[in-house]
Amino acid sequence: MTPVTTDGRILGEALSSQADLLVQWGGVVPNLAQDAHAKAIDKVVADALANAGVQEEDLSAVAVTIGPGLSMCLRVGVSKARDIARVHRLPMVGVHHMEAHALVARLTEKGVEFPFVVLLVSGGHNLLLLAQDVGQYTQLGTTVDDAIGEAYDKTARLLGLDLKRGGGPALEQLALEGNPKAFNFSVPMRQRQNCNFSYAGLKNQVRLAIAAKNINAEVPLSETDTEERRLRADMAASFQRVAVLHLEDRCRRALEWARKIDPSVACLVVSGGVASNQVVRSRLNYITQEVGLRLVCPPPRLCTDNGVMVAWAGVEHYNRGMTQPPPPIDEPLDAWLDLRPRWQLGEILEEGVADAHKRSLKKTGTHPSLTAQVRSYAEGNC
Ligand code: KG4
Ligand code: ZN
Repeated sequence: MTPVTTDGRILGEALSSQADLLVQWGGVVPNLAQDAHAKAIDKVVADALANAGVQEEDLSAVAVTIGPGLSMCLRVGVSKARDIARVHRLPMVGVHHMEAHALVARLTEKGVEFPFVVLLVSGGHNLLLLAQDVGQYTQLGTTVDDAIGEAYDKTARLLGLDLKRGGGPALEQLALEGNPKAFNFSVPMRQRQNCNFSYAGLKNQVRLAIAAKNINAEVPLSETDTEERRLRADMAASFQRVAVLHLEDRCRRALEWARKIDPSVACLVVSGGVASNQVVRSRLNYITQEVGLRLVCPPPRLCTDNGVMVAWAGVEHYNRGMTQPPPPIDEPLDAWLDLRPRWQLGEILEEGVADAHKRSLKKTGTHPSLTAQVRSYAEGNC
């Protein structure tokens, strides 16, 4: 939770992390996640306001993530936000989680003008977007199975790494000691000329290689001898090399497609947890420089999920008058809430709708995309 001014100053921040739960259970357990959210929310909001030196009544608007994500968790944030907005009669912005990741670069770096290309890489998403304006996106590609962060986490677990700071950072660190060409994993989807991603196959190749080398995840890295450590480092480096090559392939093509749609594209923004990886950054810097574009990576703490990005997405909408009125003063506690667990961000580019991706489209649920919704408002259809 974070108060941010309309000109982009971060006033104060408070964060509650579920990292301990993730390590303990090896992933998100919906009930536990909801309980943790509900317990944390009042204190996080109070701390953030206190750190910023403002009161609820000083706010101009309240922004809150309404999707996509787990309904149970979204509900906790949305109820709290509606309560504040209702009591103080504040306008609201219902934020799309991925739009918040995409827009935060405009807060941290001046000169990131629309249109720009965004690569979102995290534990849950692998997305390539053309950002044409606030609320206006074209989806160039997405993952047909797993996201890259998930593949990092799984590999880190199979290599017996310490997951306390997250599997990705632990794997990146170990890979520094290894030979990236020691294992010859194949780069996913080279035969498919689109911008979609697939990490399930790579995850599987690595799993089989780890089993073939008898690497035992039960033995922590800290207890291995030099030779075993070297083997694990080689595995980590070889996985990372191919995981990043796949990103490079897809980004190169996405920049080509985006510039065909709009030649004025000047930036590639990379966000999401995996964007803090130094190998990812340096390789993507290389491919953007090849075509004379600029790579923009928000600082790592704003690349992972955070309150600043949601507040800033709220500011971007607020500054354009794109807000909803405060909730009715007598809104009951059990009121129906507009939560969007499955919610597409942008219109999907025809070339990107290939094979397995069609299946994932069918699953995206009942809400029109944010982009379709914003267009429809602009045309006066709502
Ligand atoms: O954006 P994020 O904080 O949360 C969501 O998944 O939405 O991303 C977390 C993911 C995890 O899979 C984590 O292992 C990965 O980002 N990650 C990294 C690095 N830092 C975080 N992966 C590779 N290298 C890193 N340095
Ligand atoms: Zn995220």
